[in-house]
Amino acid sequence: MVDSLHRKLPTVVVVGSTMMDMITYIDTVPESGETLIGDSFALGFGGKGANQSVMAARMGANVYMVNTLGDDVFGDSTLKNFQDQGINTTFVARTAGASGVAPIWVEKDGSNRIICVPGSNNAMTPAQATHAIESIKDIDIVIGQLEIPQEVTAAAFRAAQARGIITILNPAPFAPLSAELLAASDWVAPNEHEFAAMHPQKRSPDNDETIKDLAHQLGKRILVTLGEHGAVFTTSTGDIIRIPSPKVNAIDTTGAGDSFVGAFAFGLASGLSEELAVKLGCACASKSVTRRGTQSSYSSKEEAQEIIKGITN
Ligand code: RIB
Repeated sequence: MVDSLHRKLPTVVVVGSTMMDMITYIDTVPESGETLIGDSFALGFGGKGANQSVMAARMGANVYMVNTLGDDVFGDSTLKNFQDQGINTTFVARTAGASGVAPIWVEKDGSNRIICVPGSNNAMTPAQATHAIESIKDIDIVIGQLEIPQEVTAAAFRAAQARGIITILNPAPFAPLSAELLAASDWVAPNEHEFAAMHPQKRSPDNDETIKDLAHQLGKRILVTLGEHGAVFTTSTGDIIRIPSPKVNAIDTTGAGDSFVGAFAFGLASGLSEELAVKLGCACASKSVTRRGTQSSYSSKEEAQEIIKGITN
């Protein structure tokens, strides 16, 4: 596929999750045993994998989603959403049973609490992922997260690395990483909580030396999202670069990290410098927190083009 200037579009493959987000907005979440009246409710498309694929597609990437949906109405509507977003669904399978769901609570400061029930995401198989990666031509980047079985992501990443394709692991929600998955990941991109969980002494990424330590210990490129403080990453020579985020008024942070990962992957796959790709991620994530919902809060294709122009000019 080419854009209007006949440049080849970068190809990003997301081997990851889909969820139906069930978002309740409330001033303060209830205590155990307490019942409260919420402000409003929204049903929307989510799942870290799906969110990242949608953001990369809105930026202008040629995106393939690899996933398994259930045979329920959520599976039908999620498949249609991918098609509406221009995402290739050749490698989206269906299985009997429920699709993934995510009940979410958002408090008035924009912070969220999420429970994911993976459902059909857990029916994904290593063979499915390997087949997809070996079948798609000219892949630039493969992205994975931790809402599907780790052995599936590891199989996808191994197949990608065998073809010299860059792999980005967003270790969310946090779980100890299998040696196989870690070995096949080029970039590990946690948020600050996941970073602390991965660090042997459970340290936060405030200090550059802490990040260098973990990068050295894992032998990986590390990219940590820091919420309103932007992001920090290790360069190929082991140096640390911190990128601030534009200042905004956050009303809902749900899915902001995913918009970062999707935009960063697009930037890297497009040949932008790593620093500009991280800036793109920060710009998209900070836009997303100013609007409600997950994918519904992401920049449109038009706004994404404005963001790209603002970063690259
Ligand atoms: O990162 C936000 C996402 O986490 C939500 O869309 C929810 O589905 C969970 O996967």
